Amino acid sequence: MQAGGFSISMVSDISIIRGTVSRVLGFIKSRVNLKEEMEYDIKLILNELLLNAVIHGNRYCRDKRVDIKLDILKNGKMMLAVNDQGEGFSYPSYQHRRPILDPEQEGGRGLNIIQALSDEVRYNKKGNRVTVIKTLEDKRA
Ligand SMILES: Nc1ncnc2c1ncn2[C@@H]1O[C@H](COP(=O)(O)OP(=O)(O)O)[C@@H](O)[C@H]1O
Ligand SMILES: [Mg+2]
Repeated sequence: MQAGGFSISMVSDISIIRGTVSRVLGFIKSRVNLKEEMEYDIKLILNELLLNAVIHGNRYCRDKRVDIKLDILKNGKMMLAVNDQGEGFSYPSYQHRRPILDPEQEGGRGLNIIQALSDEVRYNKKGNRVTVIKTLEDKRA
């Protein structure tokens, strides 16, 4: 494992998400020997974060960008921040509602998935920047 940082920015277009996810993954894999399940978790987290940024944050507005900042820390964790240029939302009150995971229900699964697969999820006050902390490598191993 090698500590380091990476930034990438994308236009608000759903079709660009796949390529962006694979570039971020490429950076992580150049620094960390990722297990297959870990790679899958990160892909899921990033995909949901970027979808939310494009759809709910920037509302598909191509003039608005989504910025991704990744830091691989010496303690074996990654810190991933996704910033959109939208209005934001109230994450604390969203969490308070505790959405039910109804398979019939179309939306509302993204944040649950992100929460379940991350050590820690933080939003800024405005609600347009989310920071995810996730352990990539067990330093005791
Ligand atoms: N970046 C964001 N900007 C504004 N609102 C957001 C953002 N991310 C999430 N939300 C709000 O949180 C809700 C739940 O998100 P999520 O669990 O991913 O479900 P879904 O995207 O299917 O609606 C969204 O419907 C939206 O109202
Ligand atoms: Mg979503």
